[in-house]
Amino acid sequence: MKVIAIVGCGRIARNAHLPALSQLDDVRIKYGCDLIEEKAKKLQEDFPKIENVITDYNVALNDPEVEAVWVLTPNFAHYTVTMDALRAGKHVLCEKPITVNYALSCEMKEEADKHGLMLNIGVCNRHHASVEKLAEMCKNGDFGDIYHIVCSFRACRSIPGLGGDFTTKSASGGGALIDWGVHFLDLILYVLGGAKLKTVTCDTYCEMAKDMKSYKYKGMWAEDTMNLEGTNDVDDYVTGYVRTDKASISINGAWAQNLDIGEMYVDFLGDKKGARLQYQGMIQVFDGQTLETEHPEYDIPNQYLAEDKAFLDSIDTGVKTRGNIDNVLESAKLLDMLYQSADAHKELDADKVTFSRG
Ligand SMILES: NC(=O)c1ccc[n+]([C@@H]2O[C@H](COP(=O)([O-])OP(=O)(O)OC[C@H]3O[C@@H](n4cnc5c(N)ncnc54)[C@H](O)[C@@H]3O)[C@@H](O)[C@H]2O)c1
Repeated sequence: MKVIAIVGCGRIARNAHLPALSQLDDVRIKYGCDLIEEKAKKLQEDFPKIENVITDYNVALNDPEVEAVWVLTPNFAHYTVTMDALRAGKHVLCEKPITVNYALSCEMKEEADKHGLMLNIGVCNRHHASVEKLAEMCKNGDFGDIYHIVCSFRACRSIPGLGGDFTTKSASGGGALIDWGVHFLDLILYVLGGAKLKTVTCDTYCEMAKDMKSYKYKGMWAEDTMNLEGTNDVDDYVTGYVRTDKASISINGAWAQNLDIGEMYVDFLGDKKGARLQYQGMIQVFDGQTLETEHPEYDIPNQYLAEDKAFLDSIDTGVKTRGNIDNVLESAKLLDMLYQSADAHKELDADKVTFSRG
């Protein structure tokens, strides 16, 4: 039996990890912690597997029964909560992105290594059946040489929680790129079986809600919908180009744009075959003559269930899995370089770039 604690009782706890963890008979969720007690209590009502509600995560960290902690807070709190949990001797599953920049992400890895603890990141797409299938095809050489990858994560008008944590750079580390782009870049590097970064160039824009009061939206998808007293200083559009020792990657992402369309896909272009991954959906593979379509089995709790189980198993086996921070740092480095390139308005060389803690 594993005894665990959940820190952060918001959307990802409710929609993903609690439905998954509630299915595991060999897991006790001893604590559900949120700074806002009512949120933790409401979550407990809906998921009675949560045994105790707390507002200070140190209560869980000081409990010797607790073996692992799920860090499901806004991005800026990932670092502090994770470091505290590791120092208290707990294994950690921390939601994506690792934290707000690469330098702090490296410190989190070092802390986990220092204590011999597992630190996994919530890169749920690595457990998506379509992504697993593409990674297997890539490994088997089915695509031949993959020379270019195109990724598009562009929505119409859906900046989340405008004026809240998601749109405040100091809290989130960035906007559409760090929030959505992290999934796309991480799955691309996973499918490629890793790649060494060479050069990165990027531009980011904050245009759609520069006047927050007049912003019109179709979707908001974060709890604190519109806080007009708050901040919006993050990217709502990003475009970038990356060279690696394997494929080059072009990126276009938007939380919001003046186009009434949504496009979420990744194209893997190989000299034998190409494939389009409809994000969190089907794959279409084309070899020049035949188009094959695959619809791998998928639903949200399964993806997170696989992620949570892999983490719990790794605690027992001591074997790092695909979601371990060691395997996710390269995409954190890429995110950091993209933001640095946008700030500097120039292309960056991966061998020369430096990273600061911010
Ligand atoms: N893997 C995915 O697909 C996915 C999807 C959504 C969100 N996320 C990530 O999950 C994290 C949380 O996102 P969310 O949408 O659930 O946010 P949210 O705002 O809905 O929930 C976060 C909760 O954490 C609480 N909190 C903040 N600091 C705390 C602290 N020190 N101690 C205890 N509680 C604290 C807040 O009160 C809030 O209730 C973010 O990092 C986000 O990027 C991942």
